[in-house]
Amino acid sequence: MTHGGGAVADDTSGTSSASDWVARDRAVVWHGFTQMAAFAENAPVIVERAEGRELIDVDGRRYLDAISSLWVTTLGHAVPELDEALRRQLDKVAHSTLLGNGNRVVVELAEALAAAVPVDDAHVLFASDGASAVEQALKIAFQYWVNRGVPGRDRYVALGNAYHGDTVGALSLGDGGFGTDVFDALRFPVIRTPGYDDPGWADKAVATVERHAGELAAVVVEPLVQGAAGMLCSEPGDLARLADACRRAEVLLVADEVATGFGRTGRLFACEWSGTRPDLLCLGKGLTGGYLPMSATVAAGHVFDAFLGEDLGPRTFSHGHSFAGNALAAAVALEHLRLVRDETLVSNVAARAAQLGQLLEDEVAPLGAVREVRRRGLMVGIELAPPTAGLRWGRRVCAAAVARGVLLRPLGDVVVVMPPLTVTADEVDRVVDTVADAIGEVVAS
Ligand SMILES: Cc1ncc(COP(=O)(O)O)c(C=O)c1O
Repeated sequence: MTHGGGAVADDTSGTSSASDWVARDRAVVWHGFTQMAAFAENAPVIVERAEGRELIDVDGRRYLDAISSLWVTTLGHAVPELDEALRRQLDKVAHSTLLGNGNRVVVELAEALAAAVPVDDAHVLFASDGASAVEQALKIAFQYWVNRGVPGRDRYVALGNAYHGDTVGALSLGDGGFGTDVFDALRFPVIRTPGYDDPGWADKAVATVERHAGELAAVVVEPLVQGAAGMLCSEPGDLARLADACRRAEVLLVADEVATGFGRTGRLFACEWSGTRPDLLCLGKGLTGGYLPMSATVAAGHVFDAFLGEDLGPRTFSHGHSFAGNALAAAVALEHLRLVRDETLVSNVAARAAQLGQLLEDEVAPLGAVREVRRRGLMVGIELAPPTAGLRWGRRVCAAAVARGVLLRPLGDVVVVMPPLTVTADEVDRVVDTVADAIGEVVAS
């Protein structure tokens, strides 16, 4: 049997191997943030199925998913309750448009989300990826001021090191890096104030808001953790001070909880640590437990109300995505929201986060090759300290971990550890031992 006319392995005869699948992949798939000329040399894992927190490749090799499939998987893979919710919804309807019409399971999900999110009188605008949720927030914030008849409120404050996704608006908020400088000409300018690597970031952000209040549409932050920057962490009180400044200056606060939402930091939402209630909240990644692409922009009632007006009139938010509010995703997200708030899970996150923190402090932080270990809940960044540039330590340490059956992916020279919330004590032990061994191997080579 051949596929697409090419000379490829016969995947029904039992003779296929990872290298065949890598070749087939390389021939037709274009992977994001991946140099395709080097893709095959970097020993990519080609996943076929999963059990619990383990991904299983085409040759039956198992990998502990210690990055939660790029931070989306909350409860693990093949979760019986989520599988069942998906199957039940399949018997009803897979998708119907939210433009002008509704869908029962989407209403149920929005009701459940509205009751769970730290947003007053919440209204939920669905999309599919985190970047789209951010893009929606930007446009809502912009039009909010137009609809209210307030001129000149069209700029955004974003932090140093920020990352909010890869669409052009989200990219503009982002502080570059990851090879995205090539798009600088496409970025619209924002007012940049330092990120969480500056201990004075909150004072500076507050001062920026006060100075520019009359021209700002919104301030956009990643509450508590700047994930893509390598898990730079901040204190809840600092976020609260920035939120107060926004309220005083009447500037909208957008909390991008695409990465921090759904239990990662030890609370359902990172804003909860400081009682912060943003005007706009962006959700994605863990919304469906990592099952299906769904994101959402949650608007506070006073923001939503500014868009009410005559039918077909200019106050309408003229924006919407084809797959917004997909019913299959909504059914999974609704069941997931129930599961992720379970007390046993919440206490598991607290216990495993404490264990992970202690083990990293004992076994990894003291290593000469490690500059700093940063953690909030189950979000960890281990910053390596290569003696010279260009050694690709992050890449090589993660490759050594993958060879030992623990799937990791770095951000530059920061090794990210972000296991599912259901991770066990034994698995935490295994991840830390593996990281320590992998660092040892790379340093010795
Ligand atoms: C804080 C934050 N916002 C937005 C995004 C973009 O989400 P997506 O990749 O689903 O577009 C990410 C992705 O890592 C993120 O960390």
